Amino acid sequence: MDRIQLIAKLRDLPAGRRIITALDVPTMDQALSIAERLGAEGGFVKVGLELYSAAGPEVVHRLKNMDRDIFLDLKYHDIPNTVASAARVAATLGASLCTMHASNGRAAMTAASAALAEAKVDHRTGRRPALLAVTILTSLSEQEMGEVSPSYDTLQDRVQRLARLAWDCGCDGLVCSATDLPGLRAALGPEPLIVTPGIRPAGADVGDQHRVTTPRQAMDAGSDFLVIGRPITQAPDPGSALKAIADELA
Ligand code: C5P
Repeated sequence: MDRIQLIAKLRDLPAGRRIITALDVPTMDQALSIAERLGAEGGFVKVGLELYSAAGPEVVHRLKNMDRDIFLDLKYHDIPNTVASAARVAATLGASLCTMHASNGRAAMTAASAALAEAKVDHRTGRRPALLAVTILTSLSEQEMGEVSPSYDTLQDRVQRLARLAWDCGCDGLVCSATDLPGLRAALGPEPLIVTPGIRPAGADVGDQHRVTTPRQAMDAGSDFLVIGRPITQAPDPGSALKAIADELA
């Protein structure tokens, strides 16, 4: 499935399915219990490193059986052959989104994109996974970045360069912070799919996030999918918390 067709299909999902609830928990039982409580609106969930390390492919199968779309956020970074093989596994699992580091370079991003372009579509979603590139982790400071890779470029310049490279290599989109979102949309235009974490509904507890944006602001700035964790998963009723955000966006 080519990327323009895939991106259009993902953008067609209803508002409730464009909010991805991050299941940042260490066990399968906890993940399934939250997913259950998300109710009919809670169609899209994120399985990240913690949950996947603990519960593996089985948790993905179980969530799929609950009619959830899966954002498999494992941020691949390895030799091209290994990254392409991991992307094929994401397709076999029926994930809707998967991620890799853009700093993995041209050959690895091209190999993973090509593997997914040829992958079979999932029989439930009718889609293959979209490959999203992570540019620079927002947790990295300018100083830390200088330690691993000294450069006169600002972090902002690096983010933009990696984002362009990812799109040129065939990736379907990007994961980016709300802060980088307007700049990336201005630089790359409307085509790439953009997924944004660091979202807080107006008045919600900010927790350890520093730069937060409301769901409405992020969508208005050009985000396609929002990743929201604790404001939903730690709410007394996760289903109502999610529905309130979806209603605000609809
Ligand atoms: O609970 P909270 O809404 O802060 O969770 C946000 C989710 O988005 C977590 O799964 C976190 O790993 C992820 N994330 C983030 N900031 C980034 C990239 C990913 O918070 N820059």
